[in-house]
Amino acid sequence: MNRRNFLIQGSTAVAGLLLASTPLRLYADHHEQAHSHGHMLPKLSYPHDALEPHIDKRTMEIHHGRHHQGYVNKLNAAIANHHDLEHLSIEALLRNIDKVPMDIRQAVINSGGGHANHTLFWSIMIPGGSEPTGKVAEAIQSTFGSLDAGSEMFANKAKTHFGSGWAWLVVDENKKLQIYSTSNQDSPLMEGHTPILGLDVWEHAYYLNYQNRRADYVDAWGEIVNWEQVNANYVAATKA
Ligand SMILES: [Fe+2]
Repeated sequence: MNRRNFLIQGSTAVAGLLLASTPLRLYADHHEQAHSHGHMLPKLSYPHDALEPHIDKRTMEIHHGRHHQGYVNKLNAAIANHHDLEHLSIEALLRNIDKVPMDIRQAVINSGGGHANHTLFWSIMIPGGSEPTGKVAEAIQSTFGSLDAGSEMFANKAKTHFGSGWAWLVVDENKKLQIYSTSNQDSPLMEGHTPILGLDVWEHAYYLNYQNRRADYVDAWGEIVNWEQVNANYVAATKA
């Protein structure tokens, strides 16, 4: 098989608790932490047109600059009057979502999830793509039987998920890999899992170029995965 094509083949007290229980280890090289200006839109490490033809420039501009910025803005607005939460990382907020006050919890799930999910998404794509490598490739083989089988399971989740959502490769609470999908912007972090690879299957991610052909988008996306980053995410998640 062409391994590159992974997918075709197939309050204060509350804040104290949050800080004490949440190591910041998501997205190995892409830590994001709120500061005095609130959560920020991360910069892309490549130009908007760098992922063409798999993902077109206009989709990247709108997806990153408008959709992701929108999640950041709404998240900051939601926590603006909750000063104890303002300095927490998005990972800390989502991992401890049951401690977030009810009046803003759904907003944090939606917009905070959107922020976390997209931050990961940008980081695990790379112009020209790459091949599964390192310990994560070994773990996919041992967990799902082969790279092909893991690929097929992931692609199938992405292609068949009903409505808006994400397909995920995560490290669960037992440090084992799992593949599943979630709806809307629900983050695996809320389940105590660490997402290491995620594919956005909201229509805003592909509609300009692929219209209703989600399967074509999923297959093309498999060719631009940054496996070095996914492996780094896996190593970080299994080490902690
Ligand atoms: Fe998106």
